Amino acid sequence: MKKIYELIVCVIIIPFFLTPVLAIDLENGKTLHDENCLRCHNESKYIREDRMIKNFQQLHERIKQCELMAELTWFDEEIDDVAAYLNDQFYYFNLEK
Ligand code: HEC
Repeated sequence: MKKIYELIVCVIIIPFFLTPVLAIDLENGKTLHDENCLRCHNESKYIREDRMIKNFQQLHERIKQCELMAELTWFDEEIDDVAAYLNDQFYYFNLEK
């Protein structure tokens, strides 16, 4: 009986905790970004010296605002992917903390 319980923990519960990490898709983030986000500004906005964004939370918030302005109605997962992509390519905030 105990074995079955352990199996359930391994097969169902552990992947459930890992999913948010695994679900981030940088390729998808790039595609979404390149197709939708270069209308008002290009990537130089993200690397200019006096850029506004100082941490990952601000980056996430900013993408949400821009996404609303662009009338895109993305899911949270799509915003997460784009945030991860921009961080990976331009911002380099440390997400370990
Ligand atoms: C409707 C026009 C518009 C669209 C479309 C748009 N943005 Fe923006 N974005 C802005 C404006 C305006 C700013 C602020 C520029 C400034 O203050 O210099 C900005 C700034 C930003 C910044 C902050 C740059 C910095 O200073 O560090 C990020 C990040 C960003 N946008 C991401 C996105 C993403 C991702 C998308 C696609 C969902 C997007 N934007 C689409 C208008 C837009």
